[in-house]
Amino acid sequence: MMARAGLDKDPRDIAVMFDGVAKGYDRTNTVMTMGFDRRWRETTRQVLDASPGEKVLDLAAGTAVSTVEYARSGAWCVAADFSLEMLRGGADRGVPRVAADAFHLPFATDAFDAVTVSFGLRNMNDTVAALAEMRRVVRPGGRLVICEVSQPPLRPLRWLYRNTVLRGLPLITKPFSSNSEAYAYLAESMRDWHNQRTVAELIAKAGWREVEWLNLTFGVVALHRATNPD
Ligand SMILES: C[S@@+](CC[C@H](N)C(=O)[O-])C[C@H]1O[C@@H](n2cnc3c(N)ncnc32)[C@H](O)[C@@H]1O
Repeated sequence: MMARAGLDKDPRDIAVMFDGVAKGYDRTNTVMTMGFDRRWRETTRQVLDASPGEKVLDLAAGTAVSTVEYARSGAWCVAADFSLEMLRGGADRGVPRVAADAFHLPFATDAFDAVTVSFGLRNMNDTVAALAEMRRVVRPGGRLVICEVSQPPLRPLRWLYRNTVLRGLPLITKPFSSNSEAYAYLAESMRDWHNQRTVAELIAKAGWREVEWLNLTFGVVALHRATNPD
């Protein structure tokens, strides 16, 4: 029986599940997103707006494919994740990689200028606690950028997306993935995740300010940006 996490998102199950999909993850991700993943990473880098001399934490970085993209800005970017197999998958990416649990980050208070999470937040069972821990490691005035699946605001499009694309995903990814059960969970977690406004509210609840969002690809994905007030 292949590992898949439940929608209660027990951190141990999530880590084991990602260990199980690490092999071939990047390729399956590109298939699953029909190649849009690359464009979403580029836009995340632009919104992150990091500059040389800054320190950026890419949390839930998986194989560090996103970290490499953000490092193009000239900032020092570190990939952190609690799946060692995902981190191993990024061994030749030339960025620092750290084993870390989002709820207990092994970094000093105010250590970073910015923190970013792409497609990882919805796997964290206590969203506000994770966002508050991210705020702890970001200096006052520093930034948060979250890239996550979302809900197209246009109702007919939302219906189509949820009932065709998301339902079909496990079938589409089956031939490419090392664990089709895990992709069933990932599709369910996408259907289950909040809309843009609710994510903004959770970010504010964790103490971040100036929260705003940008829809990408008709709102299938959203980028949330916020600032640490203190
Ligand atoms: C869907 S992958 C995204 C990887 C990468 N950010 C990307 O955009 O391709 C989600 C990642 O979140 C990580 N993750 C989930 N919960 C975590 C936690 N509590 N602490 C650290 N990493 C976590 C998983 O191990 C996995 O590598």
